[in-house]
Amino acid sequence: MIFKKDSMKILFVATEAAPYARVGGMGSVMHDLPVALSKLGNDVRLMIPKYLDVGKDLNLTLEAKGLEVPTGNKEKDQFFFCDVWKLQAEGKKDDAVTTYFLDNQEYFGSRANIYGYADDPVRWALFSRGVLEFLRFGSWMPDIIMTNDWHTGFLPNYFKSDYSMLEKFKGVSSVFCIHNLYFQGNFRHRFADEIDLDDGRSPIPAFEDPRLLQLNGMRRGIMYADAINTVSPTYAKEILTPEYGEGLGELLIERKENLSGIINGVDYKVWEINDDKLLASRFSAKDLEKRVANRKKLAEDLNLEITDNTFIIGILSRMSAQKGFDLLNPVLKSLLRELDIALVVVGEGDQRYMEFFNELAEKFPKKVSVNFRFDPKLPHLAFAGVDSVLIPSKFEPSGLTQMEAMHYGSVPIVRKTGGLADTVVDYSPNNKESNGFVFSKFDSFSMLISVMRAYENFRNKPVWIKLQKTGMNRDFSWDRSAREYMILFNKVKQSVKSNILNPKPKGVLHD
Ligand code: GLC
Repeated sequence: MIFKKDSMKILFVATEAAPYARVGGMGSVMHDLPVALSKLGNDVRLMIPKYLDVGKDLNLTLEAKGLEVPTGNKEKDQFFFCDVWKLQAEGKKDDAVTTYFLDNQEYFGSRANIYGYADDPVRWALFSRGVLEFLRFGSWMPDIIMTNDWHTGFLPNYFKSDYSMLEKFKGVSSVFCIHNLYFQGNFRHRFADEIDLDDGRSPIPAFEDPRLLQLNGMRRGIMYADAINTVSPTYAKEILTPEYGEGLGELLIERKENLSGIINGVDYKVWEINDDKLLASRFSAKDLEKRVANRKKLAEDLNLEITDNTFIIGILSRMSAQKGFDLLNPVLKSLLRELDIALVVVGEGDQRYMEFFNELAEKFPKKVSVNFRFDPKLPHLAFAGVDSVLIPSKFEPSGLTQMEAMHYGSVPIVRKTGGLADTVVDYSPNNKESNGFVFSKFDSFSMLISVMRAYENFRNKPVWIKLQKTGMNRDFSWDRSAREYMILFNKVKQSVKSNILNPKPKGVLHD
């Protein structure tokens, strides 16, 4: 592959990445963003752990055998041994991303799940340090090491304290991306006493030291990375406040100058309305009338009784408190009872929300369809068939659903927070950019007002079509976001370079 003259070498480090191992939105981003940056002519690579079954059907080559990763034990020189497997990017394809898989039988190879083990912090510390050891002894060195969420937050810490001063790492920067500040490690920061909180200043304990389990990987990533990014401009501002800061707001204010926010994108290759084989009828913003067939097919497949006037609302989401489902209970039954509304629920997660939706479906069998099984196909027809998607999130760092939905011509009803606030513009007759319905306060009645506004305007076809078209025509491409990442990475690279040329005077303490 030929890279552009001013191209960069970027290594993404994460615990999940589609299609190899994915649980949530971060896993999708770890596929789409590296590909988009590669398309811009950069040498982009990715490194994830090799969990059980990962790579079984891939053509992997052994890149490093018996890599010795120091455990950090001060008394004895101890190591955990890892292998690194490589999946070479395919030939000349400009969106090819070479992927490395870090293998350790005990901590990754024998684990079927990505998350949820009592020793997770040990696993992520090993992974973080393993990546740095791999780079230290390998032949390829990135300009930027891009780490993601608390799990890989240990890496910027190790990097600053043990690696950045080594000749081999000269000019290398670490960037830490926050996808969700709520998760900070095994340690339950929301319920802990001040005194028990990890202040991030002590060295990372050795892998076998139980204190490692108490570390806050999120705090450490924020403290030690050269730059911090999060997945939308609004979330980057919100996390500076006590309401959204999850106990790290003050630290983030300290690092404000190095904090940015770049919205995620939509993978237009996966979500391609003109060529989506999972649709009953393909369409575009120019021939929206063709979309109607999808509406009918969706209702048919899910046994819903609808007419042209029924307002179909979709909820396509991980079922967790973050997504604002607690707002639904007080109002949803009345809405379904009083109005010509149908509801399509797709997703899985917390038991209590699934039970709530199951009860609704029992009560309104012809109006409500719940789909908790994993089905990669259904969201396509659902986005193309529902009239609106409802996303009442308590917080939403970026959110992908609203963008995918708009791209497919459904009009989002969202709470004004994080990436939802950055992508959805509330309906107002004179605002040409309006593409949805937005409410501010996190309460059921505010949400109800938006749903009713959407319901009424759905009946006014010219208005509704304009909302649909505005959403469909807006650029949510990864290409746009990747260009913003390049500006950020260049800035970080420049500032690390100028630090090398003009080092801070020795003997002056910066605290
Ligand atoms: C997390 C956030 C979500 C974001 C995703 C990818 O899942 O909750 O808002 O879109 O990460 O960055």
